[in-house]
Amino acid sequence: MRNKLNIGLFGFGCVGNGLYEVLNQSNLLDATIKKIVVKNPNKARSIAKENFSYAKSDILLDNEINLVVELIDDSRAAFLIVSEALKRGKHVVTANKKMIAENYEELLNLAKANNLSLLYEASVGGSIPIIRNLEEYYNNDSLSGIQGIVNGTTNYILTQTNSGKDYETALAEAQELGFAESDPTLDVDGFDSKYKLLILIKHAFGLTLKPDDIFNYGIRNIKTQDVKYAAEKGFRIKLFSRTEKFGNHLAGFVAPHFIKEDNVAYNVNNEFNSVSVEALFSDKQLFLGKGAGAYPTASAVLSDVSALQYDYAYEYKKTNENEVLNFTDDFYLKIYIGSEFIEAIQEIPFYNIDEIFQSKAYNFQTGWVKFSELKQFNFNNLSNLFFAVLPEPFLNESDFENIAGEKLFLQVFN
Ligand SMILES: NC(=O)c1ccc[n+]([C@@H]2O[C@H](COP(=O)([O-])OP(=O)(O)OC[C@H]3O[C@@H](n4cnc5c(N)ncnc54)[C@H](OP(=O)(O)O)[C@@H]3O)[C@@H](O)[C@H]2O)c1
Repeated sequence: MRNKLNIGLFGFGCVGNGLYEVLNQSNLLDATIKKIVVKNPNKARSIAKENFSYAKSDILLDNEINLVVELIDDSRAAFLIVSEALKRGKHVVTANKKMIAENYEELLNLAKANNLSLLYEASVGGSIPIIRNLEEYYNNDSLSGIQGIVNGTTNYILTQTNSGKDYETALAEAQELGFAESDPTLDVDGFDSKYKLLILIKHAFGLTLKPDDIFNYGIRNIKTQDVKYAAEKGFRIKLFSRTEKFGNHLAGFVAPHFIKEDNVAYNVNNEFNSVSVEALFSDKQLFLGKGAGAYPTASAVLSDVSALQYDYAYEYKKTNENEVLNFTDDFYLKIYIGSEFIEAIQEIPFYNIDEIFQSKAYNFQTGWVKFSELKQFNFNNLSNLFFAVLPEPFLNESDFENIAGEKLFLQVFN
């Protein structure tokens, strides 16, 4: 039996407008938008003014509305709307990753206590159906890791820098094309990617983390010399939201990575997003699609609305599994670090150095660092340094001791 859905829509911007259009074009759903609440009464709209109201109570107090679709750009206001909707017995569909990441536990408790669904497929990877796949498809296949390119703005900028443009030019171009905000901090410093990683970790591994638990470093400080080094070695630079399981430990962070052609994400360019999932039996799989934009994002919202017709709710099966995973900072990883200043590089504690290059104009070093020490630095604010993770597995203490015992090749150029 399909449920009849009466929708109260908050927000009529890029995604809200997109949803309105795709819902009108889809005759498969028994769902209608009963009311639309927006903020600014003086804004020109693509549909008649009579369709809009400006008080949230117009939706929240309407007992005929059984589904709130929240598509506004203010995470605090969104939290108040969504929590009130759940308290008033309405299912919720949202695309707001920041709101979810900042209030995960409270929102899940509210949905559970009121026996309602809170769905948010559009919050990670836009049109890519990743959350429901993690919930349902991978339920019986043990997941070992995820590498996501989940921010189209930074992927667009990195595609341009990988092909020779400097960071400032690439950012200005992304802003002109509408891919980047005038204040791009949330994207370029990796915050948006972190909120999405937090949601992926919840559905893939069952841990409920807080944004402050996850280290995020973005692409703001990349220099043409770093890109040149990467290109000479056959690498492309990608900003990964990465999580990996080893034993009963889980690592997770956002940082630029140097990746080779054998990585499935090597050819994911421009504003496209991808999520590569590694599992015990299915091995590596890549989900690829548009991570933003009115119709791609609205399609994910539409899919949630459609699922609600059949009472779909996330079961958080991984959260309920017996295995207890420990989110850890205690591992080693291999990085590249570049700077105009040798002293800036020397501040970073390296346990093994593979390669050092020093010149008057630029310096770099590659080698192994301990993540718990690396994350103490506020790299987004260190404009004279850029680091990227190299394609080597993470190592725990005892594995690292084994390789540290070997005599490593050390190159020094001047
Ligand atoms: N854009 C994308 O491609 C994309 C992709 C994935 C996820 N998302 C997420 O989708 C959500 C919406 O993004 P968007 O790009 O559509 O934003 P947007 O174009 O900036 O539109 C925001 C809408 O929210 C309304 N609004 C803001 N505060 C409000 C309030 N307190 N009460 C009622 N309405 C309010 C605005 O009203 P006015 O029209 O009156 O100003 C506007 O209609 C965000 O959470 C975003 O992170 C977006």
